[in-house]
Amino acid sequence: MSNKMWGGRFSERPDAIMEEINVSIDVDRHLYAQDIAASKAHAAMLAAQGIITAGDAKNIGKGLDTILSEIDKGSFDFKRALEDIHMNVESRLSELIGPAAGRLHTARSRNDQVATDFRLYVRDTIDEVDAALAAFQKALVERALEHASTVMPGFTHLQTAQPVTFGHHLLAYVEMSARDRGRFADARKRLNESPLGAAALAGTSFPIDRAATAKALGFDRPMANSLDAVSDRDFVLETLSAAAITAVHLSRFAEEIVVWTSPLVGLVRLSDKFTTGSSIMPQKRNPDAAELVRAKTGRVIGALTALLIVMKGLPLAYQKDMQEDKQGAMEAFAALSLAIRAMTGMVRDLVPDEARMQAAAGEGYATATDLADWLVRTLRMPFREAHHVTGRIVALASERGIALHELPLQAMQEVEPKITADVLKVLSVESSVKSRTSYGGTAPRNVLSQAKAWAKRLEKERKWG
Ligand code: ARG
Repeated sequence: MSNKMWGGRFSERPDAIMEEINVSIDVDRHLYAQDIAASKAHAAMLAAQGIITAGDAKNIGKGLDTILSEIDKGSFDFKRALEDIHMNVESRLSELIGPAAGRLHTARSRNDQVATDFRLYVRDTIDEVDAALAAFQKALVERALEHASTVMPGFTHLQTAQPVTFGHHLLAYVEMSARDRGRFADARKRLNESPLGAAALAGTSFPIDRAATAKALGFDRPMANSLDAVSDRDFVLETLSAAAITAVHLSRFAEEIVVWTSPLVGLVRLSDKFTTGSSIMPQKRNPDAAELVRAKTGRVIGALTALLIVMKGLPLAYQKDMQEDKQGAMEAFAALSLAIRAMTGMVRDLVPDEARMQAAAGEGYATATDLADWLVRTLRMPFREAHHVTGRIVALASERGIALHELPLQAMQEVEPKITADVLKVLSVESSVKSRTSYGGTAPRNVLSQAKAWAKRLEKERKWG
């Protein structure tokens, strides 16, 4: 028997291989809630416009509700021979309510149907990711409040650069996450238009009300061009781009956790909850969760790249290639969501070794810039000259194998006679961070007020959100 949805002109069944390459139900079954919601909105609109009877619309609505609960309960029998979610739902609807089911597809095509379903799905995903990122930010802010004045080494080139505070470091990720959330919000704004009613590609001759279905599904408006509506997947690409950038941010942080928890570095410890052991080396505490966050980034970037490549050669309008838009995106969103939750857990869990951080912050002549700044400020030396003088003083300390503040004043005066004992007070790591009071700088006072402002902002958002 040929396919009962589209097989009118067919006399043979598809080859098994045809069916295998064509079938998408294993992936698009995840769109069932959106598919049913869109069908209900469509049926109600068809009745309101007098295109189908109120009685048929009522039966269609009831039947769709039954199908929704069957799928929710896990009792729905998904059939591969029916290809995709749209035909599985419609076929079950006809079992439930008979021939009226066949009226649901009036003035609609699977092309506008799938575009609508997937927009709704991606919109839901954006809302979930946003909530997860907000929780991540909240965890970071809580730890930043706690560690606004905990001194740690700041790095450039992964070499000790200048002392910073741990809270300052954590707040850097709060800022990044805020921009990530902004990118998702932008994508959401642009995707929130309804393709429904574009039909196959050209629109329809039935007097449909696209604004009504758009409104019923929470879209801001119908899409203005039917060809565009069924054939672009830029909303997926844009959301995946936001996801990829977010994943890269998380990956950088994950990498830092891997470095910090290495026994060679030892700035941070994760509890048993976020580490794993080795089956052969009993001493091991591996930061697997952080490593996997780092690795999952590959999946997200991969999904973006794959879909860009799928789309790049497609003429308008719908092409079956576009069926490949869902699997990678769904996997990427799931990976991202898990990565955000894992990072949130680690942020709550990690324990900085404050003594080690403090000691490491002073290693590697991290306050050399403070010495140079003192020369500029107190002796009115041009910064370039101060840089040179400081370099010579660092070399002296390095030759003796001691820290800057351990170098006798006399030794410094051999390099620059005008240096006074006053310099000693800028050489400690505490005074270094304390002095960084420029806007956005690492001074504990700054960090505390930034952390408090973030806590307030996130709290307010939770109240209104
Ligand atoms: N399963 C299809 C997809 O995801 C639905 C649209 C099919 N349309 C068609 N003309 N074959 O893209």
